[in-house]
Amino acid sequence: MPDRVRVFAPATASNLGPGFDVLGLALERPGDLVEAEICDEPGVEIVEVSGADSLNTNPRENVVGIAAAAAIERLPVAGRGVRLWLHKQMPLGSGLGSSAASSVGGAVAVNALFGGALSADDLVACALRGEAAASGTAHADNVAPSVMGGIVLIRASDPLDLIRLPVPDALRVVLVHPHAQVLTAEARRLVAERRFTIGQAVANLGNVAALVAALHTGDLALLGRSIQDALVEPVRAPLVPAFAEVKQAALDAGALGCSISGSGPSVLAFAESDALADAVADVMEAAFESAGLESDRYVGPVNTAGARVLA
Ligand code: HSE
Repeated sequence: MPDRVRVFAPATASNLGPGFDVLGLALERPGDLVEAEICDEPGVEIVEVSGADSLNTNPRENVVGIAAAAAIERLPVAGRGVRLWLHKQMPLGSGLGSSAASSVGGAVAVNALFGGALSADDLVACALRGEAAASGTAHADNVAPSVMGGIVLIRASDPLDLIRLPVPDALRVVLVHPHAQVLTAEARRLVAERRFTIGQAVANLGNVAALVAALHTGDLALLGRSIQDALVEPVRAPLVPAFAEVKQAALDAGALGCSISGSGPSVLAFAESDALADAVADVMEAAFESAGLESDRYVGPVNTAGARVLA
C-alpha cells in the first residue's frame, strides 16, 4: 500500500438539459488534484489549499476533508489518519462540479491509501457528504460521474442506484465557462420554490427517456432533440448572462443541443465531431464576449475513466 498518493478528480456537467439531479457526465479537464499521506494521528488534517482563496483548511468545513473523513469511517485505518493537500484547478460556483471534484478527490485518495476496498457506490456515498455540505442537498449527478467516469443516470439517491450509460464514440462535449459565479445553494432554492405543471413534468419525462434511448442506440439526432428542459432552465436562465444568445449561437453553429451546465453559469453543448465542437465553442465564447464576459472553454470527448490515482 502506498503511504502517499495523488488523485485527479474530473470536473463534471450535470442535468444535461432535462435530467435535473439525475444525469451527469465527466469531462477530461479541468479537474482537482488531491495529494494525501497517511499519518499516525487519527482523523483528517488539511495542510494546504491552493487555487481558491475563499476555501479554508478546516477539515469539518472543507468538502475534501468531509469526504475524506467519511471514507476513513468505512476503512480499516487502525487508528491512523490522513494529511491532505487540495489543489483547486477549477473555479468555484462555475457549474463544473467544483465541490464534487474536491469531495471525490478526498474520498478516492483515502481509499487508495488504506487498501482500496471501497466500491464506486461507497466512494459516491462518501463524496456526497461533501456535496451535501456545499450545496445543502446530497445530489449525486456531479459526484457519480466524477468517480465513475462516463455518463451516469442516478435512478435513486437513497439507497443509491447508479446506472452507467453508453457513450457514443462521435459525441463531443462543449463546455464554456463565463467569468461569473452562481451559488449552487441559491440556484437550487430558486428551483425548489417554483411550482411546475404536469405538462412541464411530462415534457421532461419524455426528453430524459429519449436521451437515455439515444445514448443506447447512438442516435445523436435524437440526443440533440432531447436536450430540452421545461423545468429548470427557464427558472435559471436569468442567472446566466446572455444565456439565450449563447444557446442560439451554439444551435446555429450546429450544436446537437445546448443547456445550462449544472446550476451555471457554464453552458453545455453537444456536437458530433471535433471540428463542429470547436466551431460551436467559438460562437459561444463570442456571444459571451458580446455581453462583456470573458470565458474559458473545455472541448473534447466524455471522460470515460473518472477519478484516478496518478502514477
Ligand atoms: N443538479 C444540480 C443542480 C447540480 O442543478 O442544482 C448542481 O451542482
